[in-house]
Amino acid sequence: MSSYVTKKTQGDTAWFTRDRFGMFIHFGLYSMAARHEWFKTNEKVPETKYDVYFDLFDPDLFDAKEWARRAKAAGMKYAVLTAKHHEGFCLFDSRYTDYKSTNTPFGRDIVKEYAEAFRAEGLRVGLYYSLIDWHHPQFPIDHLHPRRDDADAKEQNEKRDMRVYAQYMRDQVRELLTNYGKIDILWFDFSYSHTPEGVPDYLRGKGKDDWEAEKLIETARSIQPDIVIDNRTEIDQDIWTPEQYQPEDWVRHPETGELVVWETCQTFSGSWGYYRDEMTWKSPEILIRLLVDTVSKGGNLLMNVGPTGRGNFDKRAENALRVYEEWMRLNSRSIYACTKAEPEFVSPRDCRLTQSADGKKLYVHLFSYPSFPFFVMQGIADKVRYAQFLHDGSELLFTAGKCPWFDVGLNDLVLSVPPVKPDVVVPVIELFLK
Ligand code: GLC
Repeated sequence: MSSYVTKKTQGDTAWFTRDRFGMFIHFGLYSMAARHEWFKTNEKVPETKYDVYFDLFDPDLFDAKEWARRAKAAGMKYAVLTAKHHEGFCLFDSRYTDYKSTNTPFGRDIVKEYAEAFRAEGLRVGLYYSLIDWHHPQFPIDHLHPRRDDADAKEQNEKRDMRVYAQYMRDQVRELLTNYGKIDILWFDFSYSHTPEGVPDYLRGKGKDDWEAEKLIETARSIQPDIVIDNRTEIDQDIWTPEQYQPEDWVRHPETGELVVWETCQTFSGSWGYYRDEMTWKSPEILIRLLVDTVSKGGNLLMNVGPTGRGNFDKRAENALRVYEEWMRLNSRSIYACTKAEPEFVSPRDCRLTQSADGKKLYVHLFSYPSFPFFVMQGIADKVRYAQFLHDGSELLFTAGKCPWFDVGLNDLVLSVPPVKPDVVVPVIELFLK
């Protein structure tokens, strides 16, 4: 059994830390503009101009079943869809706003179709809900808001009441957790209460008090007590969420130092919403390494797809998903129900270790392939019963403490490896422990 113990929280994270790999989906009106989900504020687009996306929203290729099939094929076990992003547009039929997909030419409740399709594929269903709202008339203008440079921004704010908006969020969260069956994850985004220097007070950032985060979380838990909630309301909940970077090691609670349940979210190409002209797509090696590196530190990976304005995954996203599909088909045993290896196992250079939670198997992921026919792991020969490549189950012969080419320690495990790297993006050695 793994000896790592994480901070206790209220939500059910047992399934979450077994499943390890999920799909983030950023979809909204911004998908049509195809230049980042923040473009409304980046370009300070006025409401009247942004209306064109709402008026024309009709993702004719949207097929939730197809999304779900692709997620499942890639080895993902859960998903998190933007029910509402910062632009304020709702992908669900909310009673509390007209600004929703059911009022566009498309006319459909996307959250509903998503939840049903993903559940039908046996995937867990999560929803992202933006705390920020650049459409809601009561959401005060702040330094991130598209209207921040309006000459009368201060006066506009005098007519806006954050408490009305906080109530709106509670109402919508109640809808989302009541009308769509069991929701496994609620992913709030995000707090920014540290206002940068030089920003006038009337444009200050927002945090847990503004969201009335305690009440918001209470509302969610009163409907679905086990739901997994992230920490971005600024109140610690079940998961910690480093974004677009890999932590050095298992994430710890900043104050108590306890290990926490964590999930890094990453993109294929830098942006979350579909971005036509972005060229920084990650290579297959990087995609697989991100997943392996995450699990080797006891975390989860939430990998993002930004469907196009027509609602499908573009070629580049499909290709990236196929990289996961191919690798996971043969190697997922080193990912599911695996975690950071016990401290007695030290990773050789350019490798990442994971260990099955029952402690019986150790997985060595070769980020660079050995340049000579031996691969040495120090001080563990007496613990290993059998060794094989994971992708094809082919035996890897080994000796304890004997290497014809150089001196090794008595208890070093010396594996003979083929001279040519197997045709696998990241080969994995599976060690059966005694
Ligand atoms: C951010 C961004 C956002 C994205 C999210 C994903 O904080 O505002 O656009 O949805 O992170 O983690």
